[in-house]
Amino acid sequence: MDHASQVRIIEELLAFEEQRTTDMAGQDHEYHNPVSVYTDPSRFEAEVDRIWYRTPLAVGHVGEFPRAGSFKTLSVGKVPLLVVRGKDDRIRAFVNVCRHRGTLLAEEPEGRANAFACPYHAWTYGQDGALRHVPDDFGFPAVASAKDDYGLRELWCREHAGFVYVQADGNAPRRPLGDWLAEVGTDLRDLGLDDFVCLDASRAPHPVNWKLPFDIFLENYHTKFTHRKTIYPVFLSNVAKFDHFGPHIRCVLPRREITELRHIDRSKWDLVEQSTILYVVWPNTMIAVLPEHAAVWHVYPDGVGHCTLHFYALLARRLHESEAEQETWKKSLKVVQKVKREDAERFLSIQRGLESGANAALTFGRYEKAISWFHQSIEEALTRDH
Ligand code: FES
Ligand SMILES: [Fe+2]
Repeated sequence: MDHASQVRIIEELLAFEEQRTTDMAGQDHEYHNPVSVYTDPSRFEAEVDRIWYRTPLAVGHVGEFPRAGSFKTLSVGKVPLLVVRGKDDRIRAFVNVCRHRGTLLAEEPEGRANAFACPYHAWTYGQDGALRHVPDDFGFPAVASAKDDYGLRELWCREHAGFVYVQADGNAPRRPLGDWLAEVGTDLRDLGLDDFVCLDASRAPHPVNWKLPFDIFLENYHTKFTHRKTIYPVFLSNVAKFDHFGPHIRCVLPRREITELRHIDRSKWDLVEQSTILYVVWPNTMIAVLPEHAAVWHVYPDGVGHCTLHFYALLARRLHESEAEQETWKKSLKVVQKVKREDAERFLSIQRGLESGANAALTFGRYEKAISWFHQSIEEALTRDH
């Protein structure tokens, strides 16, 4: 983000803090989100079909693929994916299914492999997806003479600003990735996250609809209550600046010390130093940017009431290599884990609340407008002519 934009946002935040208010521009009323949005199985099917298969999804960070053969597996709806770095350094995505009789190929969540041998009859594929070996291939004369036709099904896959994007339906996205990501893509590029180190990776299944983790993150109205002992002492509660760029969202959540900038020359203002900037790379990724750190969540739907959260932290290489600062960043990552647990408690509880029948709709306040944006983008994608 250029410095002029940082200054503009900081000025707005300082004004909000002074006037004891926050960003509600453009949102004059509450937004009512029907509970069926989270619980209706046919709605869920439509989301998978119209959004998850047809949108470029961020599925990982380049730091997860340090060498040729580094790979990761995951599932988008019914499509199992294998994402792997090749000898030519390119990261590719394939449908993780053997071309012989359809067994799932790589079974581990991540690892490194020179080649991928199917567990059933050992048809073996290279890191580039090409079929390399068929045991006793005299039984498959046509396959043996046309191995090129039996490589793994390759999917559209690109890197952008350190993140790996895949589209699961086998097509290229309608728009070039940079255009699609808009200003969020530019911000991520400016942050230089591509050279960060990936740490603390985990995958956790949760019995909640995939949209709830986003609802939980997209406001700081809850900071004072849910995170009273963890981040409330450091961050302002319910003072924020929200923007959206197409369906992607940026929330700037200021630290208390931002108020000290009133006495410091504008040329020295730095937004990253004074806030957490939370990006939603719609529809499946949240990136919380802190000074020299980031926390990343990729969310995947497993069913109307189930999702899996892939989490990892990113750390600036300089910080990671600094002996002196090790204790500080380890402590800071511990706080991230604690906050993560506090938020998870809330979304697990909300899912139970949704299923109780107590509410026909959830109510988002004016300063919860980023949650409304997130849901409106889903609504638009479901109603758009494809
Ligand atoms: S199904 Fe993979 S080798 Fe037979
Ligand atoms: Fe939270």
